[in-house]
Amino acid sequence: MNRAPIGIFDSGIGGLTVARAIYERLPHESTIYFGDTARVPYGPKSPETVTRYSLEILHWLLAQGVKAVVVACNTSTAHALRALQEATPVPVLGVIKPGARAAIAAGGGGTVGVIGTAGTIASGAYQRAINALAPGLPVIQRACPLFVPLVEEGWFDHPATELVAADYLQELRQACVRSLVLGCTHYPLLKPLLQRVMGPEVRLIDSGQATATALATILEDKSLGAAGDAEARHRFVVSDDEARFRQVGSRFIGERLGKAEVVPLG
Ligand code: DGL
Repeated sequence: MNRAPIGIFDSGIGGLTVARAIYERLPHESTIYFGDTARVPYGPKSPETVTRYSLEILHWLLAQGVKAVVVACNTSTAHALRALQEATPVPVLGVIKPGARAAIAAGGGGTVGVIGTAGTIASGAYQRAINALAPGLPVIQRACPLFVPLVEEGWFDHPATELVAADYLQELRQACVRSLVLGCTHYPLLKPLLQRVMGPEVRLIDSGQATATALATILEDKSLGAAGDAEARHRFVVSDDEARFRQVGSRFIGERLGKAEVVPLG
């Protein structure tokens, strides 16, 4: 049994949706969550910059003795996953492949929609992952950059958010997508609103939940899991503005969010 923690990182607060899915799926695993709040957002930044930031975080997490790393950030997964995996023998898992697999399964052969940050959509990473598993399956993508600030504002069910969503999702609705990948850490918090806009028959795919399941399989296959009676400890670290992280982050995971340490990187 391996008591070492799992490293989880994101550009900031949003990755807490992935952390929450991991806490629920793997209740005996301890974690260290790193949110790069000093340098968020990653969505509009270049692949080179996102990769550089991600590698810095990876090395910091490895120095804390993590046994596996989950890249909770979709943008970071899209641009940097391969570089991260090449930089360490520790398993490094991104959110895109598990999300792609879940979307294909839920869509029953119908068109898959993908929404994410500008960087994630421009990278085409979801489309590639979906078509690697299901060649020829139609995929429609749309960047939804305004969703991140709206979620951070707490406007999960606000008329302004609904207006923005109706505009962003128009083409996906017209294409009658059967499943829609919420390809950004923040979007699961908009699930009820997005379901309303897309209609009840569209399956919304939370990449975080699919990733937690994939992580459980990796830990089991590699005999890295914690003991069944281990008490999980969760450490939170940010690169800036601990107060805001706590204030906004508690909307993501409630009272489970403990005090965060501040570690500036770079
Ligand atoms: N965490 C990012 C993602 O999932 C969203 C926020 C950002 O742009 O940094 O793509």
